[in-house]
Amino acid sequence: MSPGTRPGDNREVVLQARDVTVSFGEKTILENLSLDVYRGEILGFVGGSGTGKSVLLRTVLGLNKKQHGTIKLLGADLDEVDEATRMTVDMRTGVLFQHGALFSALTVLENIQVPMREYLDLPPKLMNELARLKIDLVGLPQDAALKYPSELSGGMIKRAALARALALDPDIVFLDEPTSGLDPIGAADFDDLVRTLRDTMGLTVYMVTHDLDSLFSVCDRIAVLGKRRVMVDGTIEDMLRSDEPWVKSYFRGKRARQIDLEARDAE
Ligand SMILES: Nc1ncnc2c1ncn2[C@@H]1O[C@H](COP(=O)(O)OP(=O)(O)OP(=O)(O)O)[C@@H](O)[C@H]1O
Ligand SMILES: [Mg+2]
Repeated sequence: MSPGTRPGDNREVVLQARDVTVSFGEKTILENLSLDVYRGEILGFVGGSGTGKSVLLRTVLGLNKKQHGTIKLLGADLDEVDEATRMTVDMRTGVLFQHGALFSALTVLENIQVPMREYLDLPPKLMNELARLKIDLVGLPQDAALKYPSELSGGMIKRAALARALALDPDIVFLDEPTSGLDPIGAADFDDLVRTLRDTMGLTVYMVTHDLDSLFSVCDRIAVLGKRRVMVDGTIEDMLRSDEPWVKSYFRGKRARQIDLEARDAE
């Protein structure tokens, strides 16, 4: 059985990776990695620094080559599809990259319109209205629209980048460490926003994060990258019960939350 698959599970798989191997020269980063992501879930993707979380994300999006395996995103194998299908999948996929969240020479409004200009042919007035709706959606004030990234706080930049990722109303968003650099309150607000978007829009969220609070509070399921593959996946309770040494020290180490599993089970 592949990671993430449960007996009797018939939810739609929106991302399916099978036996994926990615190497750079002699160095193999991912080896025979398999993962399923289900529609409407918030998946937290964790792993030590440099284990290949961002590489996997880029590979899923078709930005890195893989040496072996198959990846289906929204039902399409990006290695096989024609240009039109590839474009449809791209439009239905939003991304917030770990670095370089916004174009510094563009205002927030213009940043949000980048995907619209790339994929749609809309009159400027309509694009402005749509971008302003996204600004509302992510909880930014409207006066942020005409500001440049250098004029925004870190939290506002993350929200603006999320607004751009949501510009085309995607089915799935990939967020690479969206709360890094935010204070705990800002990070918690961002988590609430992600959960609200999932609840109201049925969005599927794939979130790479080191943020234990996000993992505890917002993620439905967690996948752990280690030994070049998804070593363990499951709920936070599964993580807390895992005997895998890395998982144990990550979730039950000094910085982990003290959590009473029995009390959680009784809820
Ligand atoms: N284009 C590339 N060419 C060569 N090596 C690369 C390339 N991209 C990534 N790597 C290497 O792949 C490994 C995994 O990198 P990656 O950025 O995926 O780590 P990560 O798990 O996202 O780490 P972090 O939590 O620090 O963001 C690193 O050793 C990195 O140097
Ligand atoms: Mg990374």
